Amino acid sequence: MSFIELTHVKKAFAERVAVEDFNLQAEQGEFISFLGPSGCGKTTTLRIIAGFELPTSGNVTLAGQDMTFTPPNRRKVGMVFQSYALFPNMTVAENIGYGLKIAGTDRSEIRKRVDDMLVLIHMEEFANRFPAQLSGGQQQRVALARALAFKPQALLLDEPLSALDAKIRVELRQEIRRIQQQLEITTIYVTHDQEEALSLSDRIVVMSQGRMEQVGTPYEIYKMPATEFVASFVGHLNLLPVKSFNPSEQRADLNGLSIIYGRIAEKFSPEKPCLAVRPEEINPGHVEGQNNLNGVVESIHYLGSIIRIRVNSNGSVFIMDQFNDYRLTIPRVGDMYAFHFPIEACWLL
Ligand SMILES: Nc1ncnc2c1ncn2[C@@H]1O[C@H](COP(=O)(O)OP(=O)(O)OP(=O)(O)O)[C@@H](O)[C@H]1O
Ligand SMILES: [Mg+2]
Repeated sequence: MSFIELTHVKKAFAERVAVEDFNLQAEQGEFISFLGPSGCGKTTTLRIIAGFELPTSGNVTLAGQDMTFTPPNRRKVGMVFQSYALFPNMTVAENIGYGLKIAGTDRSEIRKRVDDMLVLIHMEEFANRFPAQLSGGQQQRVALARALAFKPQALLLDEPLSALDAKIRVELRQEIRRIQQQLEITTIYVTHDQEEALSLSDRIVVMSQGRMEQVGTPYEIYKMPATEFVASFVGHLNLLPVKSFNPSEQRADLNGLSIIYGRIAEKFSPEKPCLAVRPEEINPGHVEGQNNLNGVVESIHYLGSIIRIRVNSNGSVFIMDQFNDYRLTIPRVGDMYAFHFPIEACWLL
């Protein structure tokens, strides 16, 4: 049986629909991310699961019990927000134990639980510090410990790392995953950062304008995007307008360039067909049996481990990503450049 279940959940604020026909079954111990741009309804859906928001229609079930109208404090879910929201006048230990104290737990039990939590987040020596004496990353660990202290059945996190700098974000997201797996706690993680969602999740729900665009494993979302929105939002994608195409030959015409494609997407739009190919699938030179093209180098961007090259072939601009290793001969802007990509790596959208 699924642990968190949302069935036909809809939420409208006055006339405006924030979430529509949201259906999800999260299994016990699963880590699911809601991924989508600002305003697509991620926080609203999370707040409905937590009970801070009532759905306009639809149902929320937790551990097999209908909780649609149950208040937040009776749902046994822990929540972590974007801003740390720690109590500034309480120590780390008092912050972590706060929920237990309110619930009337006895003092020795609170102390034991707080100690366990401090071990879990590797902050044993910080028990008596105040939030102002902690870094942002440490404050977010304490917020996580506070959410977990009362042994919730599910953990909900709303962009918990977005206020932190890049390096700490990567460290802390690995921490969150470690703790989540150690406790085997069902977790929903809201983010608009695709890398975070891809690296952390068992499954990702990609959302756009209040709707679920696709649900799948990180591999499925990246390799088999169901819609143009998913393909462009997750990772970089070359999307080139197609003039005409011939399904029996799997051939598409782009400004006079003849391309052989590998497949047609499930939710293909024949009014506005495009050829899709990921930048990492395009490589220099020509190879027999693949799509071989020539173009003029328009720009070169250094991204550290990757070099991104834009090549204009007959008016169609391809972006290709190359590993910045010693074998790479970097072209110059204005050079004629030969490149190729496999038939299986491109598809019609
Ligand atoms: N209390 C509210 N009253 C009216 N409209 C709201 C309310 N809360 C959210 N909305 C609207 O619902 C839509 C979804 O908002 P939501 O906060 O769920 O988006 P989000 O995906 O979390 O975005 P972000 O990434 O910016 O946090 C937005 O258009 C927002 O303006
Ligand atoms: Mg939000």
